[in-house]
Amino acid sequence: MHNPDGNLRVVVTKPLPGDRWLNVLTSSGCRVEVCTAEQTILDNDTIKTLIGSKCDGVIGQLTEGWNKDLFNALKAAGGRAYSNYAVGYNNVVVPDATAVGIPVGNTPGVLTETTAELAAALTMAASRRVVEADTFMRGGQYKGWLPTLFVGSLLQGKTVGIIGAGRIGTAYARMMVEGHKMDLLYYDPYPNKFLEEYVADYGKLLESKGEKPVTVRRCETVEEVLAKSDVVSLHCNLDEATKHLINKERLSKMKPDAVLVNAARGPVIDEAALVAHLQANPEFRCGLDVFEDEPDMKPGLAECNNAVIVPHIASATLWTRAGMATLAACNVAATLKGYPAWNKPDVLPFVDGPFEDIPKAAPSIVNAKELNLAMA
Ligand code: DGY
Repeated sequence: MHNPDGNLRVVVTKPLPGDRWLNVLTSSGCRVEVCTAEQTILDNDTIKTLIGSKCDGVIGQLTEGWNKDLFNALKAAGGRAYSNYAVGYNNVVVPDATAVGIPVGNTPGVLTETTAELAAALTMAASRRVVEADTFMRGGQYKGWLPTLFVGSLLQGKTVGIIGAGRIGTAYARMMVEGHKMDLLYYDPYPNKFLEEYVADYGKLLESKGEKPVTVRRCETVEEVLAKSDVVSLHCNLDEATKHLINKERLSKMKPDAVLVNAARGPVIDEAALVAHLQANPEFRCGLDVFEDEPDMKPGLAECNNAVIVPHIASATLWTRAGMATLAACNVAATLKGYPAWNKPDVLPFVDGPFEDIPKAAPSIVNAKELNLAMA
């Protein structure tokens, strides 16, 4: 427990990195109780016990199911603020929070480059078979250089496709286009003019240096991106429309030696169909940060050497994870103090500026409009 004399009780369901977030809460008069239970994923009964009979705000995790049950318990305890410690909030039934007047915060703006870098790392690890080769080496199987040992696919000059051209998709696309001179195809319901102009300008720069220019095109269908790309990376939100967006039929449209990357949400891929596809197409590779039944994997995935699999670590850099904590704390503290919701995409003044200059606003409240909150 921190600041035991604080008059606002805030529960944090997991220990968080850094200390700025804690200073934000304690300097706002909050007594902060951090759950240190060993259980990795807390069930609703445990969370309700943590909330107890008086709780003003909670910072929760993406592994928790924040629905009517929990928001009603928080409301009954006098709660007025909730923040997810994540940018994604598919674990939160936002209308259930809105129904009891509780603002829901999330943490956008500090995960962009970090998540894109992990997606790029998965792309390279899968295409160059880094994990298979590492296992081979550690297993003492390396007997000497061979022309055919762990031959993978070159990325330079190929085509990268992204599904979802929001902040993270854009950052990933730029890394692949600028770093590997890949042509870009993207599918998104909305055109991304910034990205299109950026790639076009980069193409002109390359041309001016006597190199082949890169190109960019927004596709009308997911199928077109899948069929024409050598690498496809998923950067869409998870909702009813994107659940199993990548299924058996769509996998069959991809090139047999393509690389599929998912650092978005597991259920965007029908994972059982992916396992069958990996088994039937040994040249097809994937890099997965997220899983359909997280933390479990579908049967057979762990045995697929053509899959690189990591445990949902796309946002795991110290700067990002500490920044997420600060944003979540600011969401809760500012809401409890009655400050308005921040209405700008740049959240760096919250995480990087002098502590005294942290804006008097809640950095990101996803139901601000529904609750008619004032905007800063
Ligand atoms: C998020 O914030 O939604 C990420 O998945 C955490 O890594």
